[in-house]
Amino acid sequence: MSRLSKLNLTNFNNVEARRLAKKVVFITGGAQGIGEKTARLFVKHGAKVVIADIQDNLGKSVCKDIGLDNATFVHCDVTIEADVENAINITLAKYGKLDIMINNAAIVDELKPNILDNDLPTFERIMKVNVTGVFLGTKHAARAMIPARSGSIIMLGSVSGSIGGIISHSYSSSKHAIVGLVKNTAAELGQYGIRVNCLSPHFISTPSTANMINDHPEKYTKVYSNLKGVALSEDDVAEAALFLASDEAKYMSGHNMVLDGGFTVINPAFGLFARATPVE
Ligand SMILES: NC(=O)c1ccc[n+]([C@@H]2O[C@H](COP(=O)([O-])OP(=O)(O)OC[C@H]3O[C@@H](n4cnc5c(N)ncnc54)[C@H](O)[C@@H]3O)[C@@H](O)[C@H]2O)c1
Repeated sequence: MSRLSKLNLTNFNNVEARRLAKKVVFITGGAQGIGEKTARLFVKHGAKVVIADIQDNLGKSVCKDIGLDNATFVHCDVTIEADVENAINITLAKYGKLDIMINNAAIVDELKPNILDNDLPTFERIMKVNVTGVFLGTKHAARAMIPARSGSIIMLGSVSGSIGGIISHSYSSSKHAIVGLVKNTAAELGQYGIRVNCLSPHFISTPSTANMINDHPEKYTKVYSNLKGVALSEDDVAEAALFLASDEAKYMSGHNMVLDGGFTVINPAFGLFARATPVE
């Protein structure tokens, strides 16, 4: 091993190399999927994490597995303001501050390609969790962060918040809506040193998307990205969240960071480079 790589390895193991040392993080929907992976990675980087979810048993067992010194579970339905308010208050009572808010909880509905088959209660249910829940999380995070004059708020968006034609009307509307909320709250909260960003991944097979991906493999696995040889994982999303949360991203705010291997920047129907012979 070269001297340089030895030095890098030593640095990574140092407490100083932990990018979230002493940071307090609140993650909605952290009992499974991307939220859980993010909680685990953030704790490795020195953070204290509060997982807020409606799946109490799962959330508690994840916290136990992470270690109760570093992870706490709070029951919280993000659509109920009293729950969100209470969960943030518990965080403040336990740790005295909130540095990072991850608005991750969201739900997906069944894909019904004809709008006439889409019903109002389903549309409103998706909007309530995916938009109202994010609004409430942001509001109560801001309440905790404004007096401290610092903080990082991250919303989990999606590629379907940038382009149309890939998922249900309600889900796509909800993910477009939070990009607007990110821009507006970044515009307001910057004066307090609070950054607000969106992190928008491509599809990954998680409990919520597995059915959709399995039902339409030709869409979700073949028309994936223009970046070959790698596949997106929940860990990649957690790493991107780590960057946005950390001081390395101290000048990033109001941004929609898309994690999609180039999927949303091309129109594959044109396919100029798809026709070119790849260099061996
Ligand atoms: N998995 C993907 O392919 C993908 C792609 C792009 C964006 N995203 C986004 O990433 C985020 C996480 O997705 P995931 O795939 O890990 O989802 P998931 O379904 O695996 O996990 C979502 C979590 O949110 C919780 N939750 C649901 N409703 C809630 C409520 N009302 N209050 C509190 N918690 C609630 C669930 O209990 C669950 O633990 C979501 O915002 C999703 O839209 C996911």
